Amino acid sequence: MVNDNKVVLITGASSGIGAALARYYTSKGFNTVIAARRSERLQKISAECASINFSVRAVTVKCDVTKQEDLDNVVNVARNNFGRLDTVIANAGFGVVGKFENLNLDDYKRQFEVNVWGVQNTVWASLDELKKTKGKLAIMGSGSSHFSLPGVSAYSMSKYSVRALAEALYFELMRYGISVTLICPGLVESEIRKVDNYGVYNPEAKEESELVSPMKTDKAARQIYSAIEKRKREVIITFHCKLLMFVNKYLPSVMSLLMKSYAKKL
Ligand SMILES: NC(=O)c1ccc[n+]([C@@H]2O[C@H](COP(=O)([O-])OP(=O)(O)OC[C@H]3O[C@@H](n4cnc5c(N)ncnc54)[C@H](OP(=O)(O)O)[C@@H]3O)[C@@H](O)[C@H]2O)c1
Repeated sequence: MVNDNKVVLITGASSGIGAALARYYTSKGFNTVIAARRSERLQKISAECASINFSVRAVTVKCDVTKQEDLDNVVNVARNNFGRLDTVIANAGFGVVGKFENLNLDDYKRQFEVNVWGVQNTVWASLDELKKTKGKLAIMGSGSSHFSLPGVSAYSMSKYSVRALAEALYFELMRYGISVTLICPGLVESEIRKVDNYGVYNPEAKEESELVSPMKTDKAARQIYSAIEKRKREVIITFHCKLLMFVNKYLPSVMSLLMKSYAKKL
């Protein structure tokens, strides 16, 4: 049964923040098109969405964001099922970690393929549909879009890049009535810290202990939804991320001391 509710497309919706966004948008009456590589995980999230709101639908599409044809297919599925696309959240991503001297160019390319070119592929695929609805585009950055921590140069470079993309697109897409929201979370509960440098999730992987406790994923999803709906240019998620950004900008010598002691521990 087709309804004429609004439609959101979310990449990387098989776990973590993307899955929480799928549930939250569902609770707000959106039909969802949820995409990622692991189909069985998407089925699980789709079933969760169905139990939250039976009057909307969650359609799953297997998709690797490094492949433009996969994203073209996701948008076709949205068009064929719902006839419209109101919001697109380019969320899929992972983190290549390690000191520069221990990484090689392929590690950096792999990071950019997903976190940067995957975002671009998502935007290219969905732009025509967003123009029709004067829709909302959201790009997943990070606190690492604003400060680069030692040991995560590949990830930070990718997140600085999407911040640059979001800044340019904010003004480029204005003429079409499309808003662009850059999302910059600090630590949020998810599976990202159990994904290896090849983008493979390992449930047995040991997570590094963090200095601050991560924000609950559902709380992050609520804040992200609110910012996108209000067509904000950027949203910073978590108090510790806001604090670090403040220190980085206004107290650079304090930030240097923090980074020096962090780097020593690597
Ligand atoms: N959690 C945090 O603390 C945090 C902080 C700042 C920014 N972020 C950003 O938030 C986004 C979501 O991450 P998360 O924390 O929710 O981690 P997560 O639980 O590991 O989720 C990552 C999602 O991205 C998908 N994905 C990865 N590579 C993909 C590819 N090539 N094609 C399609 N989908 C792909 C994964 O699905 P499949 O494996 O099924 O493909 C999964 O659904 C990322 O961009 C991340 O950088 C997270």
